[in-house]
Formats: sequence, C-alpha cells, structure tokens
Amino acid sequence: MIIKGSTFIVTGGTGGIGSGCARMLLDQGAAVALFDMIPVEKGDAVAVEMTPNGLTGRAIYVKVDITDSDAVKEAVAVVVNKLGNLKGAVHCAGVAIKRPWTNDMLDVNVVGTFIVNAHVADAINYPLNHPKSPTEHAPFWTTDEERGVIINFASAAANPYARVLGYGPGKTAVVGITKAMADFLGPSGIRVVSISPSIVLSGLTANFSGYFGDALKKHATFPRVPLGPEHMASTVKWIIENVGVNAIDVPVDGGWKLVMDKPGAAGGEDPRALAPGLE
Ligand SMILES: NC(=O)c1ccc[n+]([C@@H]2O[C@H](COP(=O)([O-])OP(=O)(O)OC[C@H]3O[C@@H](n4cnc5c(N)ncnc54)[C@H](O)[C@@H]3O)[C@@H](O)[C@H]2O)c1
Repeated sequence: MIIKGSTFIVTGGTGGIGSGCARMLLDQGAAVALFDMIPVEKGDAVAVEMTPNGLTGRAIYVKVDITDSDAVKEAVAVVVNKLGNLKGAVHCAGVAIKRPWTNDMLDVNVVGTFIVNAHVADAINYPLNHPKSPTEHAPFWTTDEERGVIINFASAAANPYARVLGYGPGKTAVVGITKAMADFLGPSGIRVVSISPSIVLSGLTANFSGYFGDALKKHATFPRVPLGPEHMASTVKWIIENVGVNAIDVPVDGGWKLVMDKPGAAGGEDPRALAPGLE
C-alpha cells in the first residue's frame, strides 16, 4: 500500500504510540484522522500541531469512544466525507489498568478492537458492496486489488506467562481478532496485522515505568531500555508498504518476552500479588 495520498485512521491518535504513528504517516504524505477521547479543542490543537507546514487539514481530530459502535461508525463516515480515500487504520487506543481485570479494560482493548476493525473494513468495502452499476465493480469478496490495511496494537503481554491477568488475555484476544479479521477480509483485499511491543515510553506506561525499567535493565535481551514510539511507527510503515505481511503478530520487544519466563524476573513486585481475589 502506498502511504502517500492515502487516508488512515489512528485510534488513540493523541497518545504516545498513536501520535508517533500519525506523525510518520503525515510525514509520508498521508491524511490522518486521530480518534481519541480528549476534549475537541485539545484534539484539534494536536492535529494542527502535527500537520506539516502548509498542509492544513491533512490531520483531523474526531472525539470518539471506540467502545461505542454507533459512534465509531459515525466517526468513520466523517473521515470518509472529510478526507476521502480511506485505506486503513492503525488501532492504538488501549488501556492498562493496574488491576487483575476490569470490564472497562476488556471493553476498550477487546470489544473496541472488533468495533474499530469492523467499521473501518465496512467503510473500505462500501464501494464493493454498493456498486453504481452491476458491472462496475467485482462482486463482494472477489477482488485481487489491495484495498486496505488495519494494524492492531497487541502486546508482549499477549501470552499467558506474562502474568497480567486482564490485560494479557485481552491482548491475546487482539492477536486472535487480527488473525480472524485477516482471514475474513482477505478476499476483499484488506490485510490485518498486529504489533506486540514490550515497553514503550508513553502515558500508558508512566505509572509502571519504575517497575518495568528495572526489569528491562536486569533481564532484557537488547536493548535494555524502553523503546520509543518511533520504533512502532517504523514497524507500521513497513507493514503498510509490504503487501506480503498479513495475518501475523509482529513482536517489537527486544527479546523482552524471554524475561517473563524467569520466575521473579521483574525484580520488583510480582503482578500476581495484585490478584488475591482475582478482581
Ligand atoms: N506503551 C507500551 O509500553 C505498550 C506496550 C504494549 C502494548 N501497548 C499498546 O499500544 C497501544 C498504544 O499505547 P500507548 O502506549 O500509546 O498508550 P497511551 O496511553 O499513550 O495512548 C492510548 C490512547 O488511547 C486512548 N483511548 C483509551 N480509551 C479509549 C477509548 N475508549 N476510545 C478512544 N480512545 C481511547 C487514550 O485517550 C490515549 O490517548 C495500546 O493498545 C497499548 O495497550 C503499549
């Protein structure tokens, strides 16, 4: 997929990884719609600040809760009307709550992933589903044209041994949704891929930085420091541009997952201590 001239939705687009990915897409000549929950004035200001000089309007902000299916459908329609040429989404909206599990965390990380993937795919597929004449488009499910790409952020915690009860299984579900969506959407020319980062400096990790910082320093393979949004953005760029990458989870974790195999590897509080009553 050629990034220049395409439009992408970036959910969690004002967050750490999301804004890094949005900046990369804008730099490469895409138009970008940031979906997030911050107030409209603040989101609009972020969109203006990240827009390259002289290209006003190439980034827009849409305040939307990704757990609300109707609202996401409406927000995607706004993007199609305002920016056009929708080619996919980089789905970064997510939460990590320091509790074994919460409904909110599962709603955002799991249900929200279904909702975002489904509405973005439906919008890309709309012309195939609604041909202007019976001969104008190939019937649904039969195109060989590359028509879209959706990238979901999972996590290195998407493994049972990562000892995070709600976040981990939720992110395992993100990997599962990615593979099932890729299978479902492949015939309509849409790829779906997930990325599993280890620790990336962002608002999400701010509360855990001491804990994970120690773990990385002591036990990571390489590098032994947190990654940055730019490492995620370059992976997103590679996935979008490489049509052969589909239906997989791409770890960008510096070998960090190995750490979690070692008992007590984090060196600090064991996350299992948070779960005496499992909620
Ligand atoms: N930062 C890390 O170390 C790390 C590691 C592994 C996976 N991840 C995943 O990467 C993704 C991005 O994380 P980040 O580090 O940029 O976090 P972040 O907190 O900086 O950004 C997440 C963004 O999602 C938005 N958001 C939350 N709930 C939402 C909702 N219901 N609707 C719309 N927007 C919502 C937040 O407002 C925020 O701007 C998340 O899915 C996270 O789980 C992050």
